Amino acid sequence: MSEPVSPLDLTALEAVADAAEAAAAAATNLPELATERRRWTGDDSAIAHANRSIKALPGADKAQAGRNMGAVKQRVFAAFDQARTALEAKAESERLAEETVDVTLPTDRRRPGARHPLELLQERIADVFTAMGWTIAEGPELEAEWFNFDALNFGPDHPARQMQDTFFVNPPGSGLVMRTHTSPVQARVLLDQGVPCYVAVPGKVFRTDELDATHTPVFHQVEGLAVDKHLTMAHLRGTLDHLANAMFGAGVTTRLRPSFFPFTEPSAEMDLLCFICRGKDPQCRTCGGSGWIEWGGCGMVDPNVLMACGVDPHEYQGFAFGMGIERTLMFRNGVQDMRDMVEGDVRFSMNYGVGI
Ligand code: PHE
Repeated sequence: MSEPVSPLDLTALEAVADAAEAAAAAATNLPELATERRRWTGDDSAIAHANRSIKALPGADKAQAGRNMGAVKQRVFAAFDQARTALEAKAESERLAEETVDVTLPTDRRRPGARHPLELLQERIADVFTAMGWTIAEGPELEAEWFNFDALNFGPDHPARQMQDTFFVNPPGSGLVMRTHTSPVQARVLLDQGVPCYVAVPGKVFRTDELDATHTPVFHQVEGLAVDKHLTMAHLRGTLDHLANAMFGAGVTTRLRPSFFPFTEPSAEMDLLCFICRGKDPQCRTCGGSGWIEWGGCGMVDPNVLMACGVDPHEYQGFAFGMGIERTLMFRNGVQDMRDMVEGDVRFSMNYGVGI
């Protein structure tokens, strides 16, 4: 309890008011101010005691005591109110300063992912074909053995059916495989849509290869199938050259090299002249010194395939091809190692931005 002060002693009361004003002005934050306010105006304060003692004064003194108290209380309360307004303003500006956002700081928010370049490239390839008036088709990745092999003129003993290439699906004899190429969609499209047909089919294929720099058990192809009257190998060549130019730039050199596929006759591989050494560096790491890069298989659709799909091979001919999309990305964008494409590190995909 503080020293009692008489409500009639104006000098003493003003000294209390001076001290209270000084205390209000000295508070540096709102909780401190609240404590001081309680000390100088609360129930146990000198002012409250003086106030309470008025009723014990003789009647003649009461009015003067009341006036004294009123004046002192007004000063003290005004001092605390003023100090509170100032401290609230100070707290507000401190909070604003603390919450200031520096928009120039680098963000630590997790960045959005990126679309995979193989997806982007498939879309780009699809665009090349739709621009020529072709349609885009899809087929199942879990495929009937009949579509994957039989419809495509693979004999029952063709080596590609054997375990070293094909993921057969349990139970044994299910008749299902993970498709080993996009060519089964040729048969599906012919049976579904008939002729004439011009379709491109980008998609995933599966083979029992070990993952290394140039192989992956899951990879992508784009199949092309055109069946119409009077189509020749020249149309095949022109179509693939157009795709090659769209993928690798004008002036890329291609060659067709004789090959064999059960579902095309004649069959060929299309190679690209190595655009790193242009066939001149026997040590070239891109083409292995051969000067050529294998891009995919192609050929004229075998009449047996047309017949299996109900198309008269005397009236209609066609060509087909299946190009590797990983290989396209590797040579187009200089990806050295196929494992980078499957490991899922978003930094790899981010290099391609939103388009390639
Ligand atoms: N399907 C073949 C492969 O995977 C490529 C191909 C497609 C060949 C179409 C000829 C015609 O190797």
